[in-house]
Amino acid sequence: MKVVRTIAALETAPGTGLVPTMGALHDGHVALLRAARRENRTVVMSLFVNPAQFDEQADLAAYPRDEARDLVIAEAEGVDVVFAPAAEELYPPGFATWVEPGETGAEGAARPGHFRGVATVCLKLFDLVRPERAYFGQKDAQQLAVIRRLVRDLNVPVEIRAVPTVRDPDGLALSSRNGRLSAQERERALGLPRALASASGDPDPVAAARSSLNGLEAEYVELLDLGDAKVLAAAIRVGSTRLIDNVLVEGELA
Ligand code: PAJ
Repeated sequence: MKVVRTIAALETAPGTGLVPTMGALHDGHVALLRAARRENRTVVMSLFVNPAQFDEQADLAAYPRDEARDLVIAEAEGVDVVFAPAAEELYPPGFATWVEPGETGAEGAARPGHFRGVATVCLKLFDLVRPERAYFGQKDAQQLAVIRRLVRDLNVPVEIRAVPTVRDPDGLALSSRNGRLSAQERERALGLPRALASASGDPDPVAAARSSLNGLEAEYVELLDLGDAKVLAAAIRVGSTRLIDNVLVEGELA
């Protein structure tokens, strides 16, 4: 496995699958790496905590980082190249051109500027790595929708592959933020996947999820249209930790 830190040292190859990550890898990321490994000759994983997508500086500073551990996991999953640039490599002095992704639902409204940062860095990664396929988790459903629309609107020649959400046995969706929850908070957080699962078959899933979330501070509950599929998505706050999750209510994610 090669670790590449500069754009100049990055090589492109036909039949490449790209898995963009911010590191702090868990089994959700591993599911993306495995899907990419199955479907491509070369697997490139990017490991870049993208400053442009953090709306709060404190959140960026607190983001978990453990590159040594991430590289061990990537190597074990058969990744060929890890692209781990410094921030100045992707955002050199004078950087001033952004991808503005338009309507981004309740998640976008809750995090101003977030999807602009995500869309910009992903377009840069697509241009640099030139992948045939790129892998994104259903867990971040609005992000998946933004990326799908970006490649369609800007004619980026990459196939976007969605990977189902990986959960702990108790149902909580894996997230690098879960480590910040106390045992008590984690117990409360389980109300989120439970409410979404129980509401998914309801004729009015948004109302059903809202009422079963009672006691939890819901930032939003919404139905999100992903083209071939509809998901019921919600964000909650437990203590100082913000968690998002969603379940399929209609169709299937390709
Ligand atoms: P990050 O949070 O590291 O997530 C990287 C990828 O892993 C995303 O596509 C995300 O949806 C997926 N993922 C996270 N948790 C998952 C889970 N429990 N099950 C399945 N997939 C999961 O998302 C980002 O980084 C960044 O916004 C990025 C796309 C890298 C751009 O900076």
